[in-house]
Amino acid sequence: MSTEPAVPAPRQPTMEGAALRAAFPILDQQVHGQPLIYFDNAATTQKPRPVVEALRHYYERDNANVHRGIHELSNRATAAFEAARARAAGFINARSADEIIFTRGTTEGINLVAQAWGSKHIKAGDAILLTEMEHHSNIVPWQLLAERAGARLLYLPVTGDIGLLDLGRLDDLLARRVKLFAMTHISNSLGTINPVADLCARARRLGITTLVDAAQSAGHRPIDVQEVGCDFLAFSGHKMCGPTGIGVLYGRQEVLEHMPPYQGGGEMILSVDFHHSTWKHAPHRFEAGTPDISGAVGLHAAMDYLDGIGRRHIAQHDQELGAYAYAQLSQLKQGIRLFGPHIGRAGLVSFLLRDIHAHDVVTVADQFGVALRGGHHCNQPLMRKLGVESTARASFYLYNTTAEIDRFVEVLGEIQKFFGAC
Ligand SMILES: Cc1ncc(COP(=O)(O)O)c(C=O)c1O
Repeated sequence: MSTEPAVPAPRQPTMEGAALRAAFPILDQQVHGQPLIYFDNAATTQKPRPVVEALRHYYERDNANVHRGIHELSNRATAAFEAARARAAGFINARSADEIIFTRGTTEGINLVAQAWGSKHIKAGDAILLTEMEHHSNIVPWQLLAERAGARLLYLPVTGDIGLLDLGRLDDLLARRVKLFAMTHISNSLGTINPVADLCARARRLGITTLVDAAQSAGHRPIDVQEVGCDFLAFSGHKMCGPTGIGVLYGRQEVLEHMPPYQGGGEMILSVDFHHSTWKHAPHRFEAGTPDISGAVGLHAAMDYLDGIGRRHIAQHDQELGAYAYAQLSQLKQGIRLFGPHIGRAGLVSFLLRDIHAHDVVTVADQFGVALRGGHHCNQPLMRKLGVESTARASFYLYNTTAEIDRFVEVLGEIQKFFGAC
C-alpha cells in the first residue's frame, strides 16, 4: 500500500481550460447517460478542431501525390508535406528538416532503426541495452534484431512499485559490449519521467548509439533533441492531438547519412535498373511509397495547436493532474496499490483496487462515463516483474480537469461498493 501524500488543492477549470475544451467537440457528450470523462490519453488523445479542419481543407483543396507531379495540386501537396517536416524539425529543435523521417508512428520508427541501423551495426556478441519499463514497441524490434544478429539484450532494472530506474547499475551494464541503448522518456504505465539527457550523455561517452521513445512525452513537454543528445527519437502523432497513422523518427544527420534503406519502393530511389538501384539521401531514402500526406498536414496543425498553448504549460498541467490524482487515490479508504513515483510523475496514474480485477474496474467505470484502460499496457515484462497481470490506468491531457478527477475517485468508491469491498 502506498504512503499518503498531502492532497493538492483542486484547481477549478480556468477560462482557458473551458476554451480548450470547446476545441474538442468529442468531449461534450454523454456516455451511458453520464458526461464523458476521457482518461485514456496515453492510448490516444482527442483531436482539436484546427487539426480536423486542416485535414478537411487538405482533402477539399490540395489533395494530390507528393514529389512526383508538376501540376499545381501536386506542388501544393508537396509544399504542405515538406512544410510539416520543417515544422517537426522545429518542434524538437532538430538542426535540419533532413533529420525528420515520417513514419506511421513510434512503433514503425523503432522498427526502422532496428532494421536499417541495426542490420549494419549490431553483430554477434554485441549487446542492446533497454530498460525494464519499455513498451513492447521498444522491446520486440530489438528481440528480432538480436535473434538475427546473434546479439544479447540487457535490461536496466526498475526499482519496484515506485517505478524508478536503478541508475546505479547503468555504467556497469553499458560496459558490457553495448552498441545501442534504447529508453523510454515517459513510462506509459508508471508515469516515470526518465532523465534522458543524462542517460544519453553517459552512453555517448562510451560511443554508444542512443534511441529515445518519446511516444508519451512529445506532446506533453518541450523536447530539444540537441539538448537530449540522442541519436534517434521516435514519437506518434495520434498521442499529441494529431491524426493516427503518422509519426516522426528523428535521426542525427551523421547517423542517417550512413544508414542503409529500410523499405524499398518508389520515392526512395535515385535510379533503378533491372539489377541495381541507388538511393536518395536522408530522409527520403527511408520513406518508400506514397506517404501519409494528410497525416503530416494534420500533425503540422497539431504541433501548431500545442505550441499555441505552450508545452511548458501543458507539462505543468499534466504534472498537477498526475500529482492530484495520485494524492486523491492515496486517500481512498479501501486498499489501493499505486504504481510509479510519488513525486515528479507524468499525468497518469496506474493502480489496482484490492480484490477487484483491473478489467472489472474499467468495465464498471465505463458505465459511469469514465474512459480508463485496464491491462498490461504493452508492458508485460514490467507487469511480471511487479507481480501483477494488469493495472487500471487513468491518463490525462490538456483538456482534463481536477473536477473530472474528483468524479473519477467518487466512481472508484462506487466500484468498491459494487464489488462489496467496503
Ligand atoms: C511508451 C510507448 N512507446 C511506444 C508506443 C507505441 O506507439 P504507437 O502505437 O503509436 O506506435 C506507446 C503506445 O502506447 C507507448 O506508450
